[in-house]
Amino acid sequence: KKKETEYVIGFSQCVGSDLWRKTMLEEMKMELSLHPGARLVYKDANNSSSKQIAQVGELLKMNIDLLIISPNEARPLTPIVDQAYSSGIPVVVIDRKTSSSGYTAYVGADNYQIGKMAGQYVSGLLKGKGNIMEIMGLPGSSPTVERERGFAHGLKKTGNIKISHQIYGDWLKSHAARELLKMRNALDATDVIFAHNDQMASAASEVISKLGIKRKISIVGVDALPGQGGGLQMIDSKVIDASMLYPTGGREAISTAFRILGKESVLKENILQSVVIDSSNVQLMKLQWNKFSSQQRDIERQQSLLYEQRSLFQNQQVILNVTIVT
Ligand code: FRU
Repeated sequence: KKKETEYVIGFSQCVGSDLWRKTMLEEMKMELSLHPGARLVYKDANNSSSKQIAQVGELLKMNIDLLIISPNEARPLTPIVDQAYSSGIPVVVIDRKTSSSGYTAYVGADNYQIGKMAGQYVSGLLKGKGNIMEIMGLPGSSPTVERERGFAHGLKKTGNIKISHQIYGDWLKSHAARELLKMRNALDATDVIFAHNDQMASAASEVISKLGIKRKISIVGVDALPGQGGGLQMIDSKVIDASMLYPTGGREAISTAFRILGKESVLKENILQSVVIDSSNVQLMKLQWNKFSSQQRDIERQQSLLYEQRSLFQNQQVILNVTIVT
């Protein structure tokens, strides 16, 4: 049996450069620091499914003890993840899914519920009548499919509410902006934009002002991240109207991984909670976040003190040994 310090965890991330996934990695590192010695091998596929398939292959060749993966698109990544799982490597799927049940545990929020919450919220904004434009994520990635389905179900069926346009922004601000710039006429008749993430929601806000559209268009997104450029700030400064909190699950993925490696039982579906954030509760969320991150900083300070103490202790032992030898 391996010691915990010898575990190597492979993490295949579909893209690492946005704020949401940087936050995920930070959370993972924080939780990993509670298991000193264990190693995380990180691969960033930069939005490419074929690159991600190759990177998972590389991780498997390295004899990792466990694979954590957020698959860019469900279908293309399914065979390699199935292969890993059936060869006996535990697999923790985080945020985005494959199209099979070949994994040990899933960690993430329920994207169908998130879509549904957004649909109900938007129905409330529209009061029975209005046109909605939906900016969706990447076509083949699971949260796109689930958020779209949930959103349609959450909208009130009565009255004159309709999703008049759907476009794909592939989760990216630049792609969403490019597509929106072609939609001038549609935007002129739009009352609410629901974007599958806050990056695309911010693109909507920018395009609306760039095109000089005077009509009030409410913008609803998903993620509600704290910090610079995050959704909370955008809600606070009225760039967008609301966002569905989408927890990254970084901490839970690592703690689940260590439970699996320690042969403890884990649930297959580990569903994280979400909530609507708008101007009515954004201050509260910001306060809570500030408190949380100052506690986090305290922990980091204590940890580095602990390391200092430990190396001091080890140096003293070295001196002691030397003294004994001479
Ligand atoms: C980040 C992101 C989030 C979104 C999630 C869906 O890369 O696009 O904004 O909620 O991925 O998987």
